Formats: sequence, C-alpha cells, structure tokens
Amino acid sequence: MTSSTADSGTVLITGASRGLGRTLAGLYAAAGMRIIACMRQASPAAEALDVADEGSIAALGERLCGQPVDIVINNAAIRGDTGGLDTLETGDFLEVMRINALAPLLLARALRPNLLAGRRKVLVNIGSRAGSLAEGTVDDEDGDYAYRCSKAALNMATVKLAQDFRRDGIAVISLHPGWVRTDMGGAEATIDVAESAAGLKALIDATTLAETGSFRAYDGRTVAW
Ligand SMILES: NC(=O)c1ccc[n+]([C@@H]2O[C@H](COP(=O)([O-])OP(=O)(O)OC[C@H]3O[C@@H](n4cnc5c(N)ncnc54)[C@H](OP(=O)(O)O)[C@@H]3O)[C@@H](O)[C@H]2O)c1
Repeated sequence: MTSSTADSGTVLITGASRGLGRTLAGLYAAAGMRIIACMRQASPAAEALDVADEGSIAALGERLCGQPVDIVINNAAIRGDTGGLDTLETGDFLEVMRINALAPLLLARALRPNLLAGRRKVLVNIGSRAGSLAEGTVDDEDGDYAYRCSKAALNMATVKLAQDFRRDGIAVISLHPGWVRTDMGGAEATIDVAESAAGLKALIDATTLAETGSFRAYDGRTVAW
C-alpha cells in the first residue's frame, strides 16, 4: 500500500505500476485517500496482484477481508496482437479476454464485501471506446480484434454488474480515458495522462447510484454502447 491517511476513504487500483493506474493512484493519494496500489511485482508500496491469475485475485480478497474499500478501479489491461484476423492466435486472444474482461468480474466478486463495507460504494471498469459497438470503428480501422472484443465484453460486464450490485447500493460504471500517451496509447496519442486521469477522477468522485450502468469518456461525454 502506498499511503494511509485518516478517514478520507480507500481506493484500490489495479495496474498501478505505470500509465493511467499509477497517475490515478498519485491523484487519489494527493487527495488524502488511502491507496491500495495493486501491481504484478510485489513491493512494500504495493499489493501483489496478477489479474491473469485467479488464485492471485482470491488471495487479494482474503488479505483484504474485513477492510472497507470505497472505490475499486479495474484498470489493468493488455493490448494483445494487433495484426488482424490473419495473425489472430487462440492463446493471445484468450489471454486478452482473461485480463481485460474476466479479471474485472472476478475482482468484483472478490471485493464486493469490501465495497459493501465502504462509504462511497463505486466500482469502475476502465473500458475503451474501442469496445463500443456504436462508436468503436467510426474513425478507426485496425487489426485490434482481441482488445476490441475484450472491451466490448467488459462493457456488458459493467451493465450486468450494475444490475446485480444495485441491490447493495454499489454503483458500477465504465469509463473511456481517451487516447492517452502511455505505453499502451503510444507517443502519438492525443491526450496527456495527467489530463485523462484528472477527468476520470472527477467523474468517479461525482458517481452515485444514479450513474450506475453508464459509459462516459474522461471529458464527461456519454459514449454510446
Ligand atoms: N492508453 C490509451 O490510449 C487507452 C485508451 C483506451 C483505454 N485504455 C485503458 O486504460 C487502462 C490503462 O491503460 P494504460 O494506457 O495505462 O496502459 P499501460 O501503460 O500499458 O499500463 C497497463 C497496466 O496494466 C498492468 N497489467 C497488465 N497485465 C496485468 C496483469 N496480468 N496483472 C496485473 N497488472 C497487469 C500493467 O502492469 P505491468 O507493469 O506489470 O505490466 C500496467 O500497470 C487500460 O484498461 C486500457 O485498456 C487506455
């Protein structure tokens, strides 16, 4: 864990080693929240979590048993092969689906009691406009089969979880960070990671049960499913 302050609440972030996850963790720490920064590499500053490993997810749930968590951010993801249908390979496709779509569901299940015990009760899936059936291919033509399919599946996971968790008063949302200059987004991306993270944080902080089941971009725009 990277920080522990009074009672401003706790936020858990997956994939906090770099990119958006690390920047979001920094923003929440600066706002005085306790951060549970989850990373593949265990360290004194991080909770060990490999989201591709179901045992690792279950172990995290056990370690956090009884601890309230206000906000959970499912951020960790991989891109996978981008070469199109000709290079699509079963193992790669399934790994992308496992990390980007299944892991957020397993984490939601493992951490549901923690969210229930928290005050804010917000579960965030960092999705992508690339996974939107309505908008995903409007201005893009690429070979990102696995990534796009995984983010489309994650969108349905958000909608299903929103329906399921409503009875617990837990809001579940999908957020699109924009095209961001990170290892995943690349140097040509149009949005600085600090700007994206600040936008995402503002949306997360304003989230109540009224927003559950929604899909918004970092700038507040609603993304069509
Ligand atoms: N960047 C963009 O333009 C963009 C656009 C739309 C959506 N998104 C979404 O935004 C989120 C963050 O993306 P990013 O740009 O910050 O990506 P990034 O720079 O590539 O960082 C990905 C993070 O996910 C972690 N991760 C990957 N596999 C993992 C695993 N098996 N277990 C635990 N952690 C794992 C990485 O950890 P390691 O350091 O251990 O590899 C890293 O911390 C993702 O959900 C992505 O799909 C990004």
